Amino acid sequence: MYQMVYTSKASEDILIDSERHISNILDKAKKNNLDMSVTGLLIYNSGYFLQLLEGSKESVNKIYQKIAKDQRHSTIKVILKQEANSRIFENWAMASCNLDIVSDHHFFKNEKAKKILQSCLEGEIVDEFKILDLFEFFRINYK
Ligand SMILES: Cc1cc2nc3c(=O)[nH]c(=O)nc-3n(C[C@H](O)[C@H](O)[C@H](O)COP(=O)(O)O)c2cc1C
Repeated sequence: MYQMVYTSKASEDILIDSERHISNILDKAKKNNLDMSVTGLLIYNSGYFLQLLEGSKESVNKIYQKIAKDQRHSTIKVILKQEANSRIFENWAMASCNLDIVSDHHFFKNEKAKKILQSCLEGEIVDEFKILDLFEFFRINYK
């Protein structure tokens, strides 16, 4: 099992209507990821993405190669890649959380989670345990 996390900056198009664009991305992602036994979570927050991909190293790299070429985002930066014993998102081909449209999410009340996400998106070096803790937080509070 292999895990990869990257951050990126969304294109102008996505900023205008993130809900519609992310829904298109997810339709494709869910299908492809299911075919390749890749799971994970895509977080969107004010023009930035943070995504976890998990699966075999070969499958994760294959999907990532496609994602990296996508014009809908830029400034893609891998902030974690490692072998792991188990998946965080066992049951979701690609879960998602658009923080611009979920106003009552637990995330907004959790200062620790907010700080980790902010640090990741601002390009700071973040400890890998903290990054995985953040995804664990989203799994527990998934809706
Ligand atoms: C932020 C972002 C996240 C994406 N995540 C995935 C993903 O998890 N899996 C996937 O297959 N495509 C994902 N895509 C879409 C890919 O970039 C690409 O459009 C798609 O994989 C093409 O699939 P196809 O070769 O079957 O046409 C994502 C795109 C963006 C912009």
